[in-house]
This record gives sequence, structure tokens and C-alpha cells, in this order.
Amino acid sequence: MESTVAALLARGKGLLAADESFPTIGKRFKDLAIPSTEENRRTYREMLFTTPGLGEFVSGVILFDETIRQSIGGVAVPEALARQAIIPGIKVDLGTVALAGFPGEKITEGLDGLRERLAGYRQLGARFAKWRAVIAIGEHLPTASAIAVNARLLALYAALCQEAGLVPIVEPEVLMDGDHTLARCEEVTTATLQAVFGALTEQRVSLATMLLKAGMVLSGKDCPQPAAVEEVAQATLRCLRRTVPAAVPGIVFLSGGQGDLEATERLNAICRPGGTPWTISFSYGRALQDAALQAWRGAAANVASAQAALQHRARCNSRAVLGKYSPESENSPG
Ligand code: 13P
Repeated sequence: MESTVAALLARGKGLLAADESFPTIGKRFKDLAIPSTEENRRTYREMLFTTPGLGEFVSGVILFDETIRQSIGGVAVPEALARQAIIPGIKVDLGTVALAGFPGEKITEGLDGLRERLAGYRQLGARFAKWRAVIAIGEHLPTASAIAVNARLLALYAALCQEAGLVPIVEPEVLMDGDHTLARCEEVTTATLQAVFGALTEQRVSLATMLLKAGMVLSGKDCPQPAAVEEVAQATLRCLRRTVPAAVPGIVFLSGGQGDLEATERLNAICRPGGTPWTISFSYGRALQDAALQAWRGAAANVASAQAALQHRARCNSRAVLGKYSPESENSPG
């Protein structure tokens, strides 16, 4: 697990989240009138994973259950990734459902039988795992109960991963939906991370062999006064310094519905000052894939331009992790 963590956090590299569930990939495909068939999903992921030089910028890919069992040109997907020097990981939660008794709040399912599933995924080549909890911000949300139960589930999942020799990525996502301010997001993210690290400690999870996947501290999508890039960076770093123990080796950000350029620019602003106790990087889904999916549109003839789009975003985010991204980076290919 130590060597997996070190490889995932290699300088200038981050993660590609390609673990969309059936409903999520279905939605993304539907927007472009691509039928969500097993073969189309396979072909799409093949396009992503065979992007030339992807391993220069991406250290790990988070896969979905269907994908980890598929092949690319007769080679199992985990092996195909390994040939690009990319570590395969797996989403192991089964999605979210309504939290009984707490309208508007959710818990994540997937603990039943998880020990056996983790052993199976390890056999298939996975070296790390991901579990996503969601916390919604609203007038009276989140409740302390929703935060506590989600933190507890994340901690149980993480302990089971470490028992199985898989590095857990612990992801409590505070959602961007709503018109809340940056300050409110900071308050909720702080409370969430405090609860998560409390639960992880109680569950005897080794902080040195896990990664935190967090959202940046942002104003809500519909906030009338959207926070500026520097404000986002300052609030995010302040919040993380207050809540994430230095024993945690790395924090990787989700993009969470930010535009892809915004996600890169904000990452750069967060990374530029340096001097944090943990390595900071990205674990983007949409912010890495959107341009590539738009270019691909399900057509074999578009594979090269789609791969160029993914490679470009991966390179820009790699620069951002080093604090060396600038808007001009968008125009320079090398
Ligand atoms: P986004 O970057 O699209 O938010 O996806 C990352 C992820 O893995 C969410 O669980």
C-alpha cells in the first residue's frame, strides 16, 4: 500500500476518474446521442486509456465494475493500464440512496459483502479503491446525523480496504448545488472533514496508507457572488490545514461540476503556494473527460482528436499541480 500511495502521488501526476456508474455514463452519452451499450462504454474507455503518453500525467485510473472486467485488444483493462504505467483502481460503493428520516440527505450503499468484493477486485488487479459519500448544503442541511453516518460508512469502507491491501480513497463530496456562499461551503466542508477524520481514527484506519478525495471550497453553483480563484484557493487551503492530519500523504480533488478550465485554474492557485504537509493533486472525472467525450461522439474517426483533448487536459492539470499552469498553457501543446 505504501508503494501504491507513492506511485499515485508521483510528482506532477494525478488520477483520472472513469468510474461512472450505468446511470451516470448513460446521462453523459445521452447528451451526445450515443447509445449506452456495453460495447460503446468499452470503446469509450478504450479511447481514454490508450491515449498516447497518458501515463506521463496520470498515475492512476478509477474504474467501474464493468470496465475492470473488460479487455482492450485482447488485454484485460488493468493490464492495459499497467502497460501505460498507470495503476488501476476501482469504485466499490454502490451509489447513494435517501437517508431514512432525513429528507434531502443521502447515504452511500455497498458495505454488505464488501470484504469479498475487495478480494475479487484485488485478484483482478486493482491496487486502490474509492467510496463516495455526498453531503448536500441547504438552508437546514447538512444535519450532524447525515455527516456522522456518512463518516462512519467511509471509515468502515477504508478499514476493509486496508485489510484487503487496497489503498482507500476516502471521498466525502460536499455538493456545489445551491446558492450558498464560499463561507458556508467552508463551514460545511470543515465539519465534514472533522467528522470523517474522527471516524477514521476511531476505526483504526492507517492515515499513512489512504488518500483523501475532497471538493474544493467553492461558492454554490447559483451563488449571486461567485468566489474568485484566489479566494477559493485560500479558503480551500485554510479548511484543509484545519482538518486534514499531516499523516495523510495526499489530497486529490474532484471536479464536481466545475468547468474544466476553472478546475485547472483553481487547482493551480491551490498548488502554487506549496508548503503543505500533504501532496495535492487531481482526481477529475468530468474536468478531464468532457472535452474528449465531446470530440469523440461515439465515432471511431474521432478517436485521435478525442485523445488529443484528453492529453491536453491531463497535461494542463499536471502543470497546475506544479503551480505552473497559466491560461497560455491552453494554447501550447508541449
Ligand atoms: P468529477 O471530477 O466529475 O466530480 O468526478 C470525480 C469523481 O470521481 C466523483 O466521485
